[in-house]
Amino acid sequence: MTAPVRPSIGRSLRVARLAATDLHGALADLAELGDVVDVGWGPQRFVYAFGAEANETILSSHADHFSWHDFLQTLIPVDGETALVVSDGDDHARRRRVVQPAFHRRRIDGYVATMSEEVTRTVGEWTEGETVELHTAMRACIRRIVMRTLFGDDFAAQATQFGDHLEPALVYINRPPWRRVDRRWFPPYRTAMAARDAADRLVYAEIARRRGAPADQERNDVLSWLLEAQEGEAALSDVEVRDQVVSLVAAGYDTTAAAAAWMAHALLSRPEVLADLRAEIERVLPDGAPVDAVALQQMHWLDGVVSESLRLWPPGAVSGRRVERDVEVCGRTVPAGRMIMYSPWITQRDPRWWPDPLEFEPGRWVEGHPAHRRIAPSSWVVFGGGARRCLGFAMAITELKVIAIHLARDVDLRVVGAVPAPTGLATTVPAGGVHAMVGRR
Ligand code: HEM
Repeated sequence: MTAPVRPSIGRSLRVARLAATDLHGALADLAELGDVVDVGWGPQRFVYAFGAEANETILSSHADHFSWHDFLQTLIPVDGETALVVSDGDDHARRRRVVQPAFHRRRIDGYVATMSEEVTRTVGEWTEGETVELHTAMRACIRRIVMRTLFGDDFAAQATQFGDHLEPALVYINRPPWRRVDRRWFPPYRTAMAARDAADRLVYAEIARRRGAPADQERNDVLSWLLEAQEGEAALSDVEVRDQVVSLVAAGYDTTAAAAAWMAHALLSRPEVLADLRAEIERVLPDGAPVDAVALQQMHWLDGVVSESLRLWPPGAVSGRRVERDVEVCGRTVPAGRMIMYSPWITQRDPRWWPDPLEFEPGRWVEGHPAHRRIAPSSWVVFGGGARRCLGFAMAITELKVIAIHLARDVDLRVVGAVPAPTGLATTVPAGGVHAMVGRR
């Protein structure tokens, strides 16, 4: 049995120091040592597994050797004990079965009009000649989209209030472990919990209102689905409904906003990619036709732009599991009890799977394009994979497509500055934001 590569104490200390300020640099440093590297000490001891083969083992072929709960317990103060994202085993399977239909393609298609309306509104607020910061603008826009699609338009009036309440709680759970003490005497924790309680009061009031309302109103939002799902065998309590809804907001909002900011930079700083997208938009949606789900399916260049920007800038640079049973990863034995991390960031920039990995080339994804290649299994893991693949992936991709269309079609944005450095622990965001000068088309 071969153990994972264990770097020298000096190198481990250097990586630990680097990780505190530059996670992405630290990952690249570790990946130089091999595909399965064991670093740290005591409770901070982690195995980092890099590459498509390791991803396949963790996400799919040996997924039953790993658990989530311990790894993600830091989310529980806000997401709740029963949230799908922190569940394991039968609880996870049951909750996923109940929540999944809310994210079926047909339902997501029904959200396109709301998404388009919100992006149009955001872009319409910009004035010619001003410089906008796109990450901030996208965060606000996506927050409104998430609230409306999860809770419906009735709740829209309170959506801003709900989002404002929840924001400090989300910021708290994104803190690195060394800046957290989950105890009431720790003021930031107390503030976060007060924020969560205020947001919860709104959610519980909405749940009560919906339960008391006549069932004759046709609704298309995730909350209504979760409440309807109670009628069957897989019943959800109010607490479970609350935990799913709040954790969906938490899972879907920072990630998609970061992805939108990276995509905007990639698209707007490449005139030839933008020109091809504009030509495709004009062909499929001539004369400013409304964006709909059928059109999105016909836009292959758009698909390439979104997939490629998610490849180079995956919002989750790493994710992890707890090893429950000894497991072999790329020929190395990782013992039970260890935390193991996999990295979309490293794998998706690895020349073993991606020729010219640092080139932004949407054509890789477009059949018939000279750059098109078959994508190796588990080499693009932006949304994880296997039974725990991101539930919101179709929703996120649809949002990104709608955003790209409006950024390309409705305005002429000139990006200011080079590609920003990646920063952030839970979500990889562009350091300093993405600044663009607004011109009219
Ligand atoms: C670009 C945006 C997004 C990215 C990059 C992303 C990424 C991920 C990843 C990597 C995982 C799996 C982690 C793992 O297995 O290690 C995951 C899980 C999950 N995501 Fe997303 N996500 C995004 C958007 C969303 C949205 C919009 C929602 C819902 C509104 C969502 C809901 C979830 C849920 C519920 C899970 C847990 C699934 C389960 O445990 O069965 N995500 N996401």
